[in-house]
Amino acid sequence: MSEQKKLRPASAVVAAGRPPITADGELNPSISLNSTFHAPNEVGYGRYGNPTWSALEDAISALEGGRTLVFGSGMAAISAVFNILPRGAVVTASKHGYSGTMSLLKKLVEAERIEVRYVDVSNTDEVLAALPGTVMLWLESPTNPAMEVADLPAIIGAAKMMNIGVGVDNTFATALNQQPLAMGADISMNSVTKFLSGHSDVLMGSLSTNDSALFTRLEEQRKLGGAIPGPFESWLALRGIRTLAIRMKQSQESALELADRLSKHPKVAKVRYPGLPSDPHHETAKKFMKGFGAVISFEIHGTPADADKVCGASTLISLATSLGGVESLWERRHRWSAESPSIPENLIRLSVGIEDVEDLWADIDSALGYY
Ligand SMILES: Cc1ncc(COP(=O)(O)O)c(C=O)c1O
Repeated sequence: MSEQKKLRPASAVVAAGRPPITADGELNPSISLNSTFHAPNEVGYGRYGNPTWSALEDAISALEGGRTLVFGSGMAAISAVFNILPRGAVVTASKHGYSGTMSLLKKLVEAERIEVRYVDVSNTDEVLAALPGTVMLWLESPTNPAMEVADLPAIIGAAKMMNIGVGVDNTFATALNQQPLAMGADISMNSVTKFLSGHSDVLMGSLSTNDSALFTRLEEQRKLGGAIPGPFESWLALRGIRTLAIRMKQSQESALELADRLSKHPKVAKVRYPGLPSDPHHETAKKFMKGFGAVISFEIHGTPADADKVCGASTLISLATSLGGVESLWERRHRWSAESPSIPENLIRLSVGIEDVEDLWADIDSALGYY
């Protein structure tokens, strides 16, 4: 595109990653199905780069700041980060987080690759106390599925004063709601699978950074690890990210409404959503988050079997894992054995899509009547 003024995020994500304007030129990037490129070249080979990845990377960079690398999944992106740590590195990490990340950390500890100090990220004093001697702080906020919120500006600021590397899994909030790089983090990571691509049809991950030396090391991990995305998936994700702002607006507006109604429902024991003024993390979140995302966790007055009945009784909301798509999904998280024992057995995680909020509520209310 021609030189543009600094755009607001909702516009930047629409404008970025487009081919240069030429007579009859393409408006959208093509899907580049090439494993190799003519010499002389900068990219050369399809495991090193691809024009369709680059277009998506530009769009993610327009949101996150910095420069972006896309990977074949969110886990591939997270693995690339942990792979560059020296043997024996001490990592401070969220004690609750995506179960795949938690399992990866456990495996790395068992293999004596790294040491991990697990902290409650919503307890800033606890995080700061763990930092001396830490090589990298890995934060997830809000955490999946506990929905705890870390005071990101305070914690990132303190870690950077101590020269500690900071990575933030930004999947739940997205860069529309919080910008870890602008707060000083070294890496902002996304499971692009979720809100960024937004249609539950793609698996992909991303790492964004302002540090060019770190970028080069992570790019080398992608080249050598080979966990690259496909060009078609990259194109789908790029198409999805164009509508991120409008999807997020609708989903989080509905999430707030549903969280409020759930909190007043006689069968619901506890709702976890940082957008609710009564939520213990609301005050922290309000300080720096522009919106509170579209994932709600809640516990029912009932057994895990009752929670399974509820999730199985919906007709609009699908009983399925994952989140961040246009379609609402829910599940009892402990149907997965990898879920943390400190997450309640009857906790249901609901990812709110873009359906009409009244239809969603009617579905939830009726499903709660099934036990
Ligand atoms: C917060 C978070 N981070 C990372 C991941 C992993 O992403 P992917 O499934 O794309 O590998 C997930 C997946 O659910 C997630 O929720």
